[in-house]
Amino acid sequence: MLLNLTILPGDGIGPEVTEQAVLVLQSVADAFGHQLRLQRKPIGGAALTAANDPLPADTLRACLASSAVLLGAVGSPAFDHNPGHLRPEAGLLRLRRELGAYANLRPAVFFPALEDCSPLRPEVVRGTDIMIVRELLGGAYFGQPRSIEGNPGSQVAVNTMRYAESEIERIARVAFELAMKRKRKVLSVDKANVLECSRLWREVVTRIGKDYPGVKLGHQYVDSAAMLLVQRPTDFDVVLTENMFGDILSDQAGGVVGSLGLLASASVGGPVGLYEPVHGSAPDIAGKGIANPLGAILSAAMLLRHSFKLEAEAACIENAVSTVLSQGARTADLAGKGHPAISTAEMGRRVVEAAKASSIPAGPAEKSA
Ligand code: IPM
Ligand code: MG
Repeated sequence: MLLNLTILPGDGIGPEVTEQAVLVLQSVADAFGHQLRLQRKPIGGAALTAANDPLPADTLRACLASSAVLLGAVGSPAFDHNPGHLRPEAGLLRLRRELGAYANLRPAVFFPALEDCSPLRPEVVRGTDIMIVRELLGGAYFGQPRSIEGNPGSQVAVNTMRYAESEIERIARVAFELAMKRKRKVLSVDKANVLECSRLWREVVTRIGKDYPGVKLGHQYVDSAAMLLVQRPTDFDVVLTENMFGDILSDQAGGVVGSLGLLASASVGGPVGLYEPVHGSAPDIAGKGIANPLGAILSAAMLLRHSFKLEAEAACIENAVSTVLSQGARTADLAGKGHPAISTAEMGRRVVEAAKASSIPAGPAEKSA
């Protein structure tokens, strides 16, 4: 198969982690007989520096013309004082919208080898396997009007949280369909005691849920869901929630399983899927070669699964990650007593080796003479 990809390294640790993800993709493509065609384009702060636009037309064109997009991270303190449309994040938000990527899948899976990395007791976190389904194109992130106006000292800022029934319906279906292939549980997270958006959310999700009688649907206010997520993370299967709640709860889920650096994501629903680690650009450690590339590497696995239906190839990467972790490989975010930290590149290299070792075809049985 020809895998035609656009790579958007972005800012901060983005380039370092995507480089490792590409090496892993290349090696798995080789092992399974696929051809990778890659083009790299700037986004975020890198694109602001190069072209004064966080999503240059050329970058968007390349993304729309490819079969899938792999992104590192965007964000840089250098642009903190820019107006909203000239911030690195604006490039990512526009890209999500242009790609029609309304469904953001964020798995948070606990790796047994990382028991000492979670701040939770092993018996609490063991077995955690959550799929956060975050609505990605609505809510306060995109609602109009939005503004900051007035003179210093008396300024007023406005954001608008907005949801249409059709937007809730389509993301709810994604969550229920996923639940059918998992533990058949959907927890819909909202703030229906305060927000109209959430009341509509709950009404629509309940209605869609009737089409999935085999799935157990629950509702939880977001504040209470945040507490339960640390108290009983293993109770969760699919979490269905709006844009901003999903942003917050997915970082929390990263903390629960030991490091945000482990979390991958897929943003799907449109013609071209977008894959990116959940973590940000981490400017404080950028360029040091110490970032955890596993979120990016696992995002590459999601890319193979969701954009190309290459399940064996995706599983090969995921198994390789489990293998290297169980062999004790840890980047600085995971290192601790008895586990010295390895570099970003070394972690990538070990995943490549483990993937190669597991993808060697068994071959025909030797004929006896
Ligand atoms: C994420 C990030 C983004 C978001 C930022 C960088 C715009 O935090 O993907 O979780 O808020 O969606
Ligand atoms: Mg976030």
